[in-house]
Amino acid sequence: MSLFAKFDEIRAGVELLLGSVRNPFDVRFDKVLAPTEALLGGRTVLLFGTNNYLGLTFDAACIEASMQALEEGGTGTTGSRIANGTYSDHAQLERRIAEFYGKRSAMIFSTGYQANLGLISTLAGRGDHLLIDADSHASIYDASKLSTAEVIRFRHNDPEDLAHRLRRLKGRPGNRIIVTEGIFSMLGDTAPLREIAAIKREMGAWLIVDEAHSLGILGAHGRGLSEAAGVEGDVDFVVGTFSKSLGAVGGFAASDVPDFDLLRIVCRPYMFTASLPPAVIGSVTAALRRLSTDKSLAARVLSNSRRLYEKLAQAGFKVGPEPNPIVAVKMPDRERAAVFWNRLIDEGVYVNLALPPATPGSLSLIRSSVSSAHTEVQIDRAVSIMSAVGRELGVIAAR
Ligand SMILES: Cc1ncc(COP(=O)(O)O)c(C=O)c1O
Repeated sequence: MSLFAKFDEIRAGVELLLGSVRNPFDVRFDKVLAPTEALLGGRTVLLFGTNNYLGLTFDAACIEASMQALEEGGTGTTGSRIANGTYSDHAQLERRIAEFYGKRSAMIFSTGYQANLGLISTLAGRGDHLLIDADSHASIYDASKLSTAEVIRFRHNDPEDLAHRLRRLKGRPGNRIIVTEGIFSMLGDTAPLREIAAIKREMGAWLIVDEAHSLGILGAHGRGLSEAAGVEGDVDFVVGTFSKSLGAVGGFAASDVPDFDLLRIVCRPYMFTASLPPAVIGSVTAALRRLSTDKSLAARVLSNSRRLYEKLAQAGFKVGPEPNPIVAVKMPDRERAAVFWNRLIDEGVYVNLALPPATPGSLSLIRSSVSSAHTEVQIDRAVSIMSAVGRELGVIAAR
């Protein structure tokens, strides 16, 4: 049997689905012009499918800090954090992240994916019980596979189901570790974190919150949903990424737990991969400074999000449950989702096509993400194009 035979069904599904549309898994931008605009296939498109929430990818201070770090430190560290890959700037950024969260310590990973993979799989060991939200990101699922703990999924955003599953563990030894997300990546909904934190306290569990999509957006200081919900003291480990609000690549975990730094010598996805290059550390340090001092960025991304969300809902689209920077529109089926996505590019708007099995509830989604760099004119133009294409394809009613 061919080595690749196990993927036959996926291949057939993709070929059938794509037919005459562009391949959504092989989009190649000729040039990214700005946080909200790119050239694609020779024409300008509005970018509504990036995670560039604060629009910092072209921020002058971030670029300058990055270039200076590049010139001073070279193109790469060529080593892992436990060998030659820790420069003083890595350590300094870790201190800044810890200070930002008001935690004792922080660790930087080479991606947010690796932060979840490393933290969760290392903490949840043999005899422990790992309780994850059913709609968790792939990195949390992959961490569960790598972990030797018992893995228990609880119903998405359902604290009662979580409590019920924890009660069923009564009398059994082992740590209980709960994992949830701030803003969920597909529908843009937030976790019921106050209720989850109360259950965590009652049951004596540990709590990990992935703030990948909420860093820089929620909470008075931009620390995410834990801050907005007033439960930071209950969150034992915060996970986040540099690849969204901070406009670069990389991930981190922060914690007050006294033994946290022990992870540096036992967490394999931290130990056995090259550390982030100086240029990334430079831009992320500048981006974190900007995020911490400029409250207007979060205010703008939230008002932009509400504008897109409300206008799409008014146009008749079925949108996700909350007006956060991820604005998902539910499509009637996979085929229409693919054609809709393709037509939007023809008309000058790039969004994400999100299909099962990557989506909750087998939904076919057009997933847009909003940036503080979007202008109201750009948002209104995107809504007008999406509405016209929606009517053309029968996704929303004709006027
Ligand atoms: C909830 C969540 N966690 C983690 C990640 C991984 O982040 P990174 O892109 O830094 O690997 C993502 C990325 O999409 C995400 O949505």
